[in-house]
Amino acid sequence: MSLHATPLSHSNPDFCAEINSVDIANGVSEAECHWLEKAIERYGVLVFRDQVINDEQQYAFSENFGPMELATGDVTAHTDRRLSMKVNDISNLDKDGKVLQRSDKARLFGLGNMLWHSDSSFKAVPARYSLLSARVLPEQGGNTQFADMRAAWDALEEDMQQECEPLICQHSQLFSRASLGFEDFTDKQIQEWQPVEQRLVRKHPGSGRRSLFLSSHIGGINGWPVPEARMFIRDLTEHATQPQFVYTHHWMPWDLVMWDNRTTMHRARRYDHTQPRDLHRTTVSDEYSSLETIQTGKTTPLRT
Ligand code: OGA
Ligand code: MN
Repeated sequence: MSLHATPLSHSNPDFCAEINSVDIANGVSEAECHWLEKAIERYGVLVFRDQVINDEQQYAFSENFGPMELATGDVTAHTDRRLSMKVNDISNLDKDGKVLQRSDKARLFGLGNMLWHSDSSFKAVPARYSLLSARVLPEQGGNTQFADMRAAWDALEEDMQQECEPLICQHSQLFSRASLGFEDFTDKQIQEWQPVEQRLVRKHPGSGRRSLFLSSHIGGINGWPVPEARMFIRDLTEHATQPQFVYTHHWMPWDLVMWDNRTTMHRARRYDHTQPRDLHRTTVSDEYSSLETIQTGKTTPLRT
C-alpha cells in the first residue's frame, strides 16, 4: 500500500488533501480504508482524481465507511428518478437526461445546494460522509466550496465558544427551502420534514477536535426567540465561511470528492443552467444523532 495525501490549502494545511494511488473502480483493501479514514479525520475533505467509475463501484467503495443512506432526503417526489435510490442525483437533468427547464421545480429545489450546508443535517441521524463523483461538467463555473468547521470553531473567542457549546439547533429542509422563497408546502411535507435537533458544537470522535455544526437547514435554537436564533446562526455562518476557512474545488471529469459532514460545510456555485452538469452522490450515514453525546454517552462527552 503506497497511499499519499497532498494538502491542497496553503493557509490551512490540515484541510483538504488530494489522495494518490487509489483505484476506486477496482476496490480498496481494509488497510487502505483504514488509512483513508485516518486521512479524512485529519483533512475533512479528500480529493481523488481520474476515478472512472459507475454507480455500483461508487456505492461499493462508499459502503466501506459505514451504513449507507438512501436518496430519500428530498422534499420533492421520489417518482420518475433518473438514478437508483442508492445514489443522490446532483444534476440539472430530467429522467431522460435532458437539461431541466429554468422554472422546473426539481431544478429550483436543487438550488438549495448553493446554500452552505451539511448533508442530511435535517435527519435525526445525519450524514457522516458524502462522496460526489463528477460525470458531466459545464464549461465554466459549477465549482463546489468547502468550509472547515473545526478551524472556524478554533478561531472563535472563548466567550463565544462558551455561549455556543450548550446550544441545540432545529434543522429542517423546509427552513432552507423557505429561505429561497418556497412556501407552498403540503401537509404531508410539513409532517415528514418536522425539525430535528442537533448540537451546535460537536466533538469529532476520531480527532477529538470540536467543530461548529452549522447548516442552512437550521431554523431555530431551543429556548431562543426565532429572529434572534436566526441572526445568531447567520453571524456564525458568516464567520465560519470566511476565505481562510474555505477551499474551492474546480471539478475535472471523474473527480471524486469525499467529505466529512460532521466537520465541514459545502455549497455549489453558479453555472450556465442551459448546460448539463451531472454529479452522483453516495452518502454514508452517521450511526447516532449529534445529541447522543449527551443522551447515551456513546461518544466522548464534549467537556472532558
Ligand atoms: C451535494 C452538494 C454541491 C454541488 O452533493 O450534497 O451539495 O456543487 N453538492 O453540486
Ligand atoms: Mn450537499
